[in-house]
Amino acid sequence: MTTSADSRIEFTRLPHPGPVPGATRAEALADPGFGKLFSDHMVMIDYTEGRGWHDATLGPRGPIALDPATAVLHYAQEIFEGLKAYRHDDGTIALFRPRANAERFNASARRLAMPELPEDAFIEAIRQIVAADRDWFPPVAGGSLYLRPFMFASEVFLGVRPARNYKFIVIASPAGNYFKSGAPAVSIWVSEDYTRAAPGGTGAAKCGGNYAASLVPMAEAMARGHDQVVFLDAAERKWIEELGGMNLFFVFADGSMVTPPLGGTILPGITRDSLIDLARDEGLTVREERYSLDQWRDDAQSGRLVETFACGTAAVVTAVGTVAGAHGSFTIGSGGPGQLTTKLRDRLVAIQRGSAPDPHGWVMKL
Ligand code: COI
Repeated sequence: MTTSADSRIEFTRLPHPGPVPGATRAEALADPGFGKLFSDHMVMIDYTEGRGWHDATLGPRGPIALDPATAVLHYAQEIFEGLKAYRHDDGTIALFRPRANAERFNASARRLAMPELPEDAFIEAIRQIVAADRDWFPPVAGGSLYLRPFMFASEVFLGVRPARNYKFIVIASPAGNYFKSGAPAVSIWVSEDYTRAAPGGTGAAKCGGNYAASLVPMAEAMARGHDQVVFLDAAERKWIEELGGMNLFFVFADGSMVTPPLGGTILPGITRDSLIDLARDEGLTVREERYSLDQWRDDAQSGRLVETFACGTAAVVTAVGTVAGAHGSFTIGSGGPGQLTTKLRDRLVAIQRGSAPDPHGWVMKL
């Protein structure tokens, strides 16, 4: 079937009764890690210029054949999202702010000259795959079903212009902790040679290219024994921006918090946005303002700054314990998760997992 941008998309269900035997699945789900295990199904919707979105299917997850001249393989016209589904204690399944992901997906699409997908179709695609793969929730602490919607230019064409055909796909990945050790606090390396995003670039879009560009500095951080890399702004190499895939918050002894402002070079994290609201619910002052590396070091050493944490869908809320760079290293607070980091993390997780009220209406039951 065919859709225009605002009509309803009907999904065809291709037969696929869950081919992975229960025992094999149970064994895999006992230690899901992050990003290495995948469920049975995938959603696929095609876009053709002049026709719109069409042929929405929920079917078996499997390889997709691409012509070697497919545009995405050459010019990286690709965007993605990350969100999680949670199984609550009463057996129901909940999504966390999926409409915010749908909105951000379309903002990324506009930046990468791609067609927008109606928000309701994005959400319906998520609902379809989660319902089909409801046996893939890992029964481990902190477990969830991580959803990865993405879109790429599928036109077979080598000219440099926006493609005329796209594929939107959603896959699901049972997830445990993002950091291998379950990291109580991570150690981060300040990249002074590489930046992540420049003004006017694609830093605010969730496109694969941003992550590709972070791999060399990330490898450099790991080679030096750190868990993550933190980027400075591209213009002055002075202001803290974000990690390779997580936003940052700084917590001060007076109880106030700072997070770098969204100015086009930082990903507008949904976890970031939720934590700002939760902190303000607690009566805390949260300022979205620039914060420099020098100030960060001075404040950590003087005790004015007591905590720093990173946040994102995959990593949730993770304390930053130590920061190292070309000019030395410093420890934040005790080097472990601080009080406010733990409190905000617990509040957020309790809402996501249905063990606390949801005052902002963020949870969407399946
Ligand atoms: C997420 O937190 O969902 C992300 O997209 C970060 C990373 C896993 C790419």
